[in-house]
Amino acid sequence: MTSFVGLAVEIIDGKSLDIKNLSLHSYLDIKIPERCRLKWDPQEYLRFSDERGRPFRDLLARVPATAPGYVVDLGCGPGNLTATLADRWPDAHVLGLDSSAEMIQRACEGDFGGSARTGRLSFTEADLFTWRPERPVDVLISNATFQWVPGHLDLLDDLVGAVRPGGWFAFQVPGNFGEPSHTELAAVCALPRWRDRLAGAGLARPWVAEPAAYLERLAPHATHLDVWETTYLQVLAGEDAVLRWVRGTALRPVLSELDEAEQAAFLEDYGARLRAAYPQQAYGTLLPYRRIFAVAQIAQIAPTRLPSSKSIMQ
Ligand SMILES: C[S@@+](CC[C@H](N)C(=O)[O-])C[C@H]1O[C@@H](n2cnc3c(N)ncnc32)[C@H](O)[C@@H]1O
Repeated sequence: MTSFVGLAVEIIDGKSLDIKNLSLHSYLDIKIPERCRLKWDPQEYLRFSDERGRPFRDLLARVPATAPGYVVDLGCGPGNLTATLADRWPDAHVLGLDSSAEMIQRACEGDFGGSARTGRLSFTEADLFTWRPERPVDVLISNATFQWVPGHLDLLDDLVGAVRPGGWFAFQVPGNFGEPSHTELAAVCALPRWRDRLAGAGLARPWVAEPAAYLERLAPHATHLDVWETTYLQVLAGEDAVLRWVRGTALRPVLSELDEAEQAAFLEDYGARLRAAYPQQAYGTLLPYRRIFAVAQIAQIAPTRLPSSKSIMQ
């Protein structure tokens, strides 16, 4: 059985659902739409770019690839972090892909095209479920994306097949879905006023696994494995800091469903709960943030994602 972040969440009929006692698929069949098509707001997301970029940098620090030729960033978002991959590996062609048109537009408009990167950095709108690389990937990265992808634990076997033997697969997912930022969101979504509209939108993401589950899933494919977790004690500046933080991420499914007046009503209630859970101190607002990291060097495997050898030659 797949191991999940242990949570009991309130669902729309008022019954409590213990995620730990459900398999991934049975849980998804009950509650979660297979794929979420969200409207992202790159500006909102980039408000905390330093804090959001820190785990990406910490992840990359554990990828010792020296001169990869082809690097892909799955769920690249606004592209600011993807661009740093082209700086780190000056001979690499770097592709960022994302299913959000808004994020890809921002990435393409971004001022990332320093002359040293010209022709080596590109972005494309694509779904990582169906994406196939045009050639074997030397470094496959994904930062803060798989939590939006139901069933990604099963998808890992498949994604590994995109990586050239000896190449690297590295990803990071948040592991904070039991924190008040998420449990209070689920609680407000479950209120009578919202529950019909927002069923599922504020739920913790049960498809994020514990570190050991990622390690076990990657182990058969890997010659080198490095899996760890870190809780960052983030200190955020300004009023309603945690609300501003989640507006860029966890609140997207909720905001996508509501008009402006409804959003204001929802945010008033949710914002008050966040202020109580994360009181502002003289030094700022503390938002502890647990993240899970995995880095694997890929062994020789039967490729499942690669194009045929004929098309690789072309
Ligand atoms: C929290 S953002 C992370 C962006 C970037 N990796 C970063 O660390 O700043 C998550 C991104 O994953 C993308 N995403 C979610 N599901 C996806 C999928 N199935 N295929 C491709 N991108 C996806 C979203 O559109 C969003 O841009």
